[in-house]
Amino acid sequence: QRRVRIPHLLTMKEKGEKWAMLTAYDMYSAEIFDEAGIPVLLVGDSAGNNVYGFETTVPVTVDHLVPLCRAVTSAAKRAMVVADLPFGAYQSSPEQALATATRFMKEGLAHAVKLEGGAPMVPEVELLVRAGIPVIGHIGFTPQSEHVLGGYKVQGRGAGAEKLMDDALALQDAGCFAIVMEMVPAPAAAEVTKALRIPTVGIGAGPDCDAQVLVWQDMAGLRGGRAPRFVKKYADLRTTLGDAAKAYAADVAAGTFPAEEHSFLE
Ligand code: KIV
Ligand code: NA
Repeated sequence: QRRVRIPHLLTMKEKGEKWAMLTAYDMYSAEIFDEAGIPVLLVGDSAGNNVYGFETTVPVTVDHLVPLCRAVTSAAKRAMVVADLPFGAYQSSPEQALATATRFMKEGLAHAVKLEGGAPMVPEVELLVRAGIPVIGHIGFTPQSEHVLGGYKVQGRGAGAEKLMDDALALQDAGCFAIVMEMVPAPAAAEVTKALRIPTVGIGAGPDCDAQVLVWQDMAGLRGGRAPRFVKKYADLRTTLGDAAKAYAADVAAGTFPAEEHSFLE
């Protein structure tokens, strides 16, 4: 099976074929989503909230993501694997961005990188692309800037729609091969999608993006508590796993596990 590459994604946009992207942070999730035909897997810095137990993505470092990327890339035979560049690891200069992205690429940890920010990130994107590193942009609500943005808030409302469009066009011109739009009004995302030659990937950005992305633990119902509005729960793994743990513990307490078939009798 051939690896998904940028031309596949551009062709899908031309043909109007929508596709789904998921995060993955370990071997089994990557293997399962790859076998399910998900073309792009993101080792997101959302690992901060979904793997490491941080409240935000801000504390996430390259060292946090490297082992997760290694697991996902080993397990995904067909999917394109994208590594998120963590907060503080690319904003100082294009050179810093290149050094960080190069680490992911050179060690074979990813096939592309993603970074947050619009027009101000053009020099970073240009240098990475010139160096041969494919880049996905990320605009609208950018979690690494949540303290500046004043919390989890929809971006691109009213006059913000113009900024969203300018950022998207600037990133496309700089050489991004796709752009994530997070928490923006559906009509604004639709306008950007129409204006771009490269695919848009929405999360809380309405139905007209070329692709959608969700954090897998949200999509599969592993997380507890209330999920954001843009999440649809396709499974209830939290209940399934909790029930399995309770059944196992009950069996052990009752002495019904291990049974004969689980034991070496001589
Ligand atoms: O880190 C992440 O999971 C992301 C996606 C939600 C786009 O950036
Ligand atoms: Na992210």
